[in-house]
Amino acid sequence: MSIQEETSKRRTFAIISHPDAGKTTLTETLLLFGNLIRSAGTVKGKKSGKFATSDWMEIEKQRGISVTSSVMNFPYKGLQVNILDTPGHEDFSEDTYRTLTAVDSVVMIIDATKGIEAQTKKLFKVCRMRGIPIFTFINKLDREGREPFDLLEEIEELLDIETYPMNWPVGMGKRFQGIFDRDGNQFVHYSGNEQETFIPYDELKKPEYEELVSSDEFKTAQDEVALLDEAGDQFSIDQVLKGEQTPVFFGSALAPFGVQTFFDTFISMAPPPAPRKTTEGVVQPGNPDFSGFIFKIQANMNPQHRDRVAFLRVCSGKFERGISVKLARTGKTINLSQSQQFVASSRDNIEEAYAGDIIGIYDPNVYRIGDTLLEGKELFEYDELPQFPPEQYKRVTAKNVMKSKQFKKGIEQLVQEGAIQLFKKYKTESYILGAVGELQFDVFKYRMQNEYNSEVLLEPIGERVPRWLNEEKVNTALFDERNMLVQDREGNNVVLFKNDFALRWFQDNHPDVELIDLYEVN
Ligand code: G4P
Repeated sequence: MSIQEETSKRRTFAIISHPDAGKTTLTETLLLFGNLIRSAGTVKGKKSGKFATSDWMEIEKQRGISVTSSVMNFPYKGLQVNILDTPGHEDFSEDTYRTLTAVDSVVMIIDATKGIEAQTKKLFKVCRMRGIPIFTFINKLDREGREPFDLLEEIEELLDIETYPMNWPVGMGKRFQGIFDRDGNQFVHYSGNEQETFIPYDELKKPEYEELVSSDEFKTAQDEVALLDEAGDQFSIDQVLKGEQTPVFFGSALAPFGVQTFFDTFISMAPPPAPRKTTEGVVQPGNPDFSGFIFKIQANMNPQHRDRVAFLRVCSGKFERGISVKLARTGKTINLSQSQQFVASSRDNIEEAYAGDIIGIYDPNVYRIGDTLLEGKELFEYDELPQFPPEQYKRVTAKNVMKSKQFKKGIEQLVQEGAIQLFKKYKTESYILGAVGELQFDVFKYRMQNEYNSEVLLEPIGERVPRWLNEEKVNTALFDERNMLVQDREGNNVVLFKNDFALRWFQDNHPDVELIDLYEVN
């Protein structure tokens, strides 16, 4: 099969949601379709003591949450499906944000009993900014939830995207009877067990369906569908692919009900890998030369292998085990002899991969997040990955000063992984760490101790507003603990302002000092 044909079969997506909306449950059901797990419930059972196949680290087990992103892949109906798992916990949104740079579409799960929640909104914003097509699954229809129209209105208003319901529910909770499949012109009957009965619209006249059809819920839903057909927005695949309209599916991930129809429709509409921007113009996925970028680095996924793995999204060409590639940042040639594809923690060596695939490559401590690897004569880099503003800052010191070597090594490596952001106080060796949330610090502390044998002390310095200074020369007299002068990893000067008020005060009093906000998402 040609590179082009292989590439066109790839469907690479992430599932985003607020914690507890049902991401794990939906993922489990999708893996069942892919025959990757024997029965639902093996991926995660928080209370039963079983853990998601994606919960690698001990700390994840202790807390019963998924901290790191993993990748699952399986063939489905002639296509190759790649699902990138993302941590739902808000403290890890930075990791999730970066994962979104490696996908071609996104499934957004909304809990029908709750509607749009904070985390969904944040993640949605990133997808929107990047123009990623978004498919919505409204979950938990087997529970008493909010009115469907109400939910659609909320999506349109809060997320500013047009909705197109692909199906429409009849009742909810105990009264939930199924969905009208608008595209398939059929009613999908839910009878409380795993069986879904597909009834073409013209067969609903049959006497055996009389009770169903004459119910109040059925009549109401029928009227609502008629209203949608007449007055609702038109479906537009162009708009969907631009991320301006979201197809909406109602169902229950747990039952499961409506999941198969959702997935089949989603997979038929979701786009294959698209051309991507680089510093030297656009690269086509079917381009014969291999190229890709690293969006995540992770250490010690398996305690038996104390190594690091870099996750690379293939963007063009064909990856073959053992190929020689160049690291665009340094121009150095590297042989990719050790590479894996993931089904969570099980590592299978892979022989080949194409645009859209995610591969894990052994990292002997040479890669950075955002690095481009490529074959061919040209050197280019994929668009820089966005950095996200930390919301919490802490000063970090080693408890035992005799162990400063391990301390520095640990910090260097964890920062390189992107687990946490590092600043140093201006021209000193005093470290300040920035993270999106508190839990990231806990993970940092835990990993420093367990992986680098370095006990650390963390002292909060509160929320800060970071701004970069344009000039290399700095008048240090302008800064103090309140407006703290630090340097980022590259040695650029940054001021961590105490709050927005302190920032404004500074701007008013020192209009000659140019301050830059480098973060893409605020
Ligand atoms: P998450 O990964 O997005 O955090 O959510 P997860 O799938 O773990 O689901 C959160 C809770 O919601 C789980 O219950 C799960 O069983 C339930 N759930 C998911 N989908 C549905 C659905 O379609 N209908 C109903 N009624 N419930 C659903 P839990 O009691 O918190 O955990 P567990 O002990 O069942 O794992």
